[in-house]
Amino acid sequence: MSVALAAVAALGLAACGSGNSSDSSGDASAGSTGAYTPKEGGAGGDVGVFTWWAEGSEKKGLDALVSEFEKQYPNDKFVNLAVAGGAGSNAKAKLASDLANGNPPGSFQGHAGAELTDYILADPPQIEPVNDVINALGGEKVFPKDLLDRLTVDGNIYSVPSNIHRANVVWANPKVLDKAGISETPKDIKGWIADMDKVKKSGVNTPLSIGGTWTQVQLFETVLMADLGAEKYAGLFDGSTKWDSEEVKTAVNDFKTLLTYTNKASDGDDWPDATNMVIDGKAAYNVMGDWAVAEFEAKGAKDGEDYVYFPVPGTDGVFDFLADSFTLPKGAPNPDGTKDWLMLVGSADGQKAFNLAKGSIPARTDVPADDFPKYQQSAMESFKSDTIASSIAHGAAAPLAWTDDISKATAKFYSTKDADGFLKDLTAAADKNVVK
Ligand code: BGC
Repeated sequence: MSVALAAVAALGLAACGSGNSSDSSGDASAGSTGAYTPKEGGAGGDVGVFTWWAEGSEKKGLDALVSEFEKQYPNDKFVNLAVAGGAGSNAKAKLASDLANGNPPGSFQGHAGAELTDYILADPPQIEPVNDVINALGGEKVFPKDLLDRLTVDGNIYSVPSNIHRANVVWANPKVLDKAGISETPKDIKGWIADMDKVKKSGVNTPLSIGGTWTQVQLFETVLMADLGAEKYAGLFDGSTKWDSEEVKTAVNDFKTLLTYTNKASDGDDWPDATNMVIDGKAAYNVMGDWAVAEFEAKGAKDGEDYVYFPVPGTDGVFDFLADSFTLPKGAPNPDGTKDWLMLVGSADGQKAFNLAKGSIPARTDVPADDFPKYQQSAMESFKSDTIASSIAHGAAAPLAWTDDISKATAKFYSTKDADGFLKDLTAAADKNVVK
């Protein structure tokens, strides 16, 4: 059984009782039925929050949360501990060492799903249950049960989700497509590759823009979803789909072909450079999570005129899911201040302010869709009706160590383009991380 599966097997939604006793101890048993009651104006003291939302539109999203926090909890002082680098590419190592050295922040950003289980199942555990905060926010009445399940281990909920992002989105420049004579959205990867040839013939050298390794892992996961379908893709993480199967071979070869249409990337290249290539007309397409839409809007680009979007060809009806959520680390310096932050992150006001600025959709189900622009309204619809698949690059599918092995294999493949070697590395990574 894989580590991810072991965690999932251990899942079971906490009995979100309707008790209303105040509990701020973070103790699992007490927290499972109580509901946290924040002090009027906040507990007071510093609340250091660790994220990788350090720049550009991501910083704007964080700023939107912080200004709500300052309004609702004026006694508390927000301390920004952000470490730059998309997808936590630099932040995660710093966080791991801070946690190992007994120097936890007030709260840190983590990905719902397998990645969070690393902190929960660590010995000793690195984060505390926050059932009391989730209960106070409304529990299952306001958060989708599927999402709460991904935050739960052994009946306890360990973080408060701020948002849901979709990762299998192609962002495209309509003028570039027009010039290449492309008027229809391709149905599968093969059709998409044929369109990339048309783009190249029209004089654009980079049909598809990419950034550093994590953006390539994300591109690869969407190709896996397209070529395997959502069910077999999910099987890659519970051992029921083999990493050396014919379908994965097809996906690796498709990924290899796609990489022949891209710019050259170095590992440290962050995502805004890749999305900017689309807006600037230097590339036709980029596959990026929908944090891209916030960047486009911040640049004044207009939906439908300067950019269009569609699911990665072959993944229509699949929602490549990831969610950011905030934790209460064990030994956090000011746990009541942290809980004020968590209450804000999980509140309807906090989620509206944050998600409007971030491009994501609220994790809560009671924030009116009408308040959001067109793209986000369409993402809300898809999230309701699509099959949900877990992102590898953004921690939903596999624990940190496995994701790390997949990232290393992808970086190696990017330089060698050795498909057989990549398949061997991916299979070895699965064997290493699947507990038989
Ligand atoms: C996070 C997003 C963030 C993106 C790029 C993802 O892992 O979940 O919130 O915008 O990385 O940094």
